[in-house]
Amino acid sequence: MLTIAVSKGRIYEEALPLLQEAGITPLDDPEKSRKLILRTTRDDVQLVIIRATDVPTFVEYGAADLGIAGKDVLLEHGAESLYEPLDLNIACCKLMTATHKDAPEIVGRVRVATKYVKTAQRYFAQRGIQAEIIKLYGSMELAPLVGLADCIVDLVDTGNTLKANGLEARDLIMNISSRLVVNKAAMKMKHQAIAALLEQFEQTLAQR
Ligand code: ATP
Ligand code: PRP
Repeated sequence: MLTIAVSKGRIYEEALPLLQEAGITPLDDPEKSRKLILRTTRDDVQLVIIRATDVPTFVEYGAADLGIAGKDVLLEHGAESLYEPLDLNIACCKLMTATHKDAPEIVGRVRVATKYVKTAQRYFAQRGIQAEIIKLYGSMELAPLVGLADCIVDLVDTGNTLKANGLEARDLIMNISSRLVVNKAAMKMKHQAIAALLEQFEQTLAQR
């Protein structure tokens, strides 16, 4: 049995066509069902439905053999403990700094609100900028508006969320897409099955 960890919403929706090309269609819809383990049309493959930020943890500990996770989540988790063999090129966006439309260039000490604490720390340290990082779990865009932070580090796709809140993107930290990650022991113990799945995903991606 191969267990694949996936999060509901954006990643599941964009990963589903890829999974289906590999003959993997879940027997329940995770958006409707309360089940956390989904059997699929392939007897040898099941999905576990978890929070996006938990995917690396499940795969690292071998609770799932494979997972699909955003590069943002992998960067923050630290991905040394996982194999990351495939860029699935889904859920694409940018990790950026953003601040008030008319705010001056960031110099000196800066307060940054983000859920990407380690990534932000690393980014500002590399640029020699002293940053006080404030951990938030969502609605980062609010922080500069209410004086909680000078800027944010968050994901930007269309830019609509920033625009709606009078903010603008400043520096690109990294282009983000979702990656297939594999547990290191599973890669050895279930090599044949995992290699076959990787090949199927690669073929589908190559045709896109
Ligand atoms: P959690 O439930 O763990 O807090 P989340 O709410 O961030 O996670 P999603 O919003 O489904 O979960 O995002 C999952 C992944 O999709 C992110 O890690 C990122 O890689 C990507 N992503 C997030 N927002 C966007 C967006 N606006 N456009 C494209 N991709 C995005
Ligand atoms: C993400 C991100 C931004 C928004 C950017 O939030 O945290 O707020 O998308 O997308 P845009 O540039 O197209 O507006 P998401 O929609 O995942 O909401 P959540 O963080 O509350 O889950």
